[in-house]
Amino acid sequence: MNHYVIIDQDLTASIDTSLYKKDNLFIITTIIEKLNEFVSPYSGKNQPFYIVLFIQHEKLQEIDRFLKLKGKEIKNFYYKLIVLCLDQKKDFFRYNKTRRVSSYRNTVISAREFLFVVENSFFVMEEYHLALLHEFHDRQELIDIERDQQELIEIGKALSNEKNLGKLLELILENSRKITGADAGSIFLIETDDDNNQKLVFKHAQTCSLDISYKEFSMPLNKNSIAGYVAVTGERLNFPDVYNLSEDDPVSFNSSFDQENNYRTKSILVVPMKNHIDQIIGVIQLINCKEGAEADEEYNFDKAYAMKLHFPEDFENKVIPFKSRYETLLEAIANQAAITIDNNRMIKQIEQQFEEFVKASVTAIESRDPATSGHSFRVAKMCVEMALAINKEKSEVFKNYNFTPVQIKELEYAALLHDFGKVYIDCGIFQKAKKLFPKDIRFLMLKLDYLYRCTEIQYLEKEKDLRIVSITDKSVENILTALIKEKEEKLEKIKAIKAKIIQLNEPQVFEEDPEKILQSILKEIDECMCLDLEKHKMIIIDDQEQTNLSIKKGSLNLHEREEIESHVIRSYSFVSKIPWPPEFKNIPEITQKHHEKLDGTGYPNKLKGKENIPLQARMIVIADIYDALTASDRPYKRAVPIEKTMAILEMEAEQNKLDKDLVDLIKKHKLYEKI
Ligand SMILES: [Fe+2]
Ligand SMILES: [Fe+2]
Repeated sequence: MNHYVIIDQDLTASIDTSLYKKDNLFIITTIIEKLNEFVSPYSGKNQPFYIVLFIQHEKLQEIDRFLKLKGKEIKNFYYKLIVLCLDQKKDFFRYNKTRRVSSYRNTVISAREFLFVVENSFFVMEEYHLALLHEFHDRQELIDIERDQQELIEIGKALSNEKNLGKLLELILENSRKITGADAGSIFLIETDDDNNQKLVFKHAQTCSLDISYKEFSMPLNKNSIAGYVAVTGERLNFPDVYNLSEDDPVSFNSSFDQENNYRTKSILVVPMKNHIDQIIGVIQLINCKEGAEADEEYNFDKAYAMKLHFPEDFENKVIPFKSRYETLLEAIANQAAITIDNNRMIKQIEQQFEEFVKASVTAIESRDPATSGHSFRVAKMCVEMALAINKEKSEVFKNYNFTPVQIKELEYAALLHDFGKVYIDCGIFQKAKKLFPKDIRFLMLKLDYLYRCTEIQYLEKEKDLRIVSITDKSVENILTALIKEKEEKLEKIKAIKAKIIQLNEPQVFEEDPEKILQSILKEIDECMCLDLEKHKMIIIDDQEQTNLSIKKGSLNLHEREEIESHVIRSYSFVSKIPWPPEFKNIPEITQKHHEKLDGTGYPNKLKGKENIPLQARMIVIADIYDALTASDRPYKRAVPIEKTMAILEMEAEQNKLDKDLVDLIKKHKLYEKI
């Protein structure tokens, strides 16, 4: 009982209650005490409490104080205070201005009047309570609508920031549930299998009231399931109770999940996810709306989705149908989500295409030159390992550095493409193991053989002439002997020249300056008279051969070295033309500076200092040298052992050519073991 009529004992003679037949009428002397007793069960509760109180005006102040106080303690406390004063001399009208008195009476109250006053008072109080309740609900609903709109904006922002599809689906579903107050939900996406058949894939699910994990599964894309129906037709479905579906409804409900998990699916809202070209890419399904149900205050509106349904009566009492306004709202979310998922898929596709393009480009360069095959992949791998090691570092030097996954990808692409410019350069130069190309040294040897024969023939002709003369003149025999000796010496010299040139052709560093050796060879050749078929003096070692044989270190001449070094400019020019996404904007610069050294001895721009050479380029320089030294497949040198390679890198770091911190990092983290 929450309706009370209380009459002051002293007023019984003035009030006729004979027509009032209800048992909530109390005639009391100790009013405050009794009131306390009535009121206390309602303290702190939401339930309304109504009271009509007839008192004599002498007790007004005391009663009014009590009512004011209790009115604050009990949330929905309503009262009507009827004050009686039959003493005409008292001026009680002045109280009316200050106190919440419903009525002052100075005459007795008849039975009919009493009935009317009491019933009317209860009616007015109840109406007032209902009006307040509606106002509260309307206000809450308004707040909820405003919050939903805010949520929609927030969802938009969150969706555009999330790149991971799994997290994206989680975010979409969580927000959809939050807005609509749904207990559970799932997202299905339409995917195409290898045989080009479309299927509906159950991708993600959440259930507030169940602690279970879900596994991805797929089903045929047809109208046999509720989600399938929406995915095929694009119609949204909103059922207050799926167990009450009729034959006329387009779908039927499969209750196996409910049975297996002791759950009760009741209200359901399913909407299609349509992308920018109105194509359905999936479905959002929400189950059991709890928003606005007679629930605990703390789980109202935007928090309703988090209220757990434990018992069968919870499903019965706390689950209500999804409001119709949520149909369009959820569709708005679903469409926004569809566009984001589509974008996400496209970004993934572009990323994959970039990855394949980069790797195909690198494979193309490396297939031209078996000697450096795998170089770019190994350099990229080492750079990635360096970046990961930097991320782990807490030392002073690297504590402020952190490579994000995208930055690591950028570094990897730059490292993979750093030598792409080599594709424009004659492969022979890369494969040039000796100072002269094999065909050139063969040709030079043939010319020396020709010189040998020419010299031999010249001497044989002279010998023949002398032999004829010696038949008649024995005195020439001495000359003949001297000539034969001279011939043999000369021919021996030519043989020695051949041997020297073969030795000179080697790329190693000589004790004596190769140019000097060559000059003495040229002088010796010059002493021979070698004519070609047209009787012109023949040039045995031409300018080009002389230039190459004079190389002091390695197998490349200046022009060839410049040609090889030009690969940097060519790599830069190639990667600059690729329309990289903004997150990869540094790739051209990194590529351009991958042969610069900190002391300014690098190329092509002889840049100096860390401020001019980005960290990523400094990483590639080191990885590049490391791989060039340790590689076992180069024709002109043997693989250098790791210890010696590290010693060379450390020496270059000491000379301020390489970044010492990076070289130390390789050593500290033993990165060579990871490659
Ligand atoms: Fe390079
Ligand atoms: Fe390289």
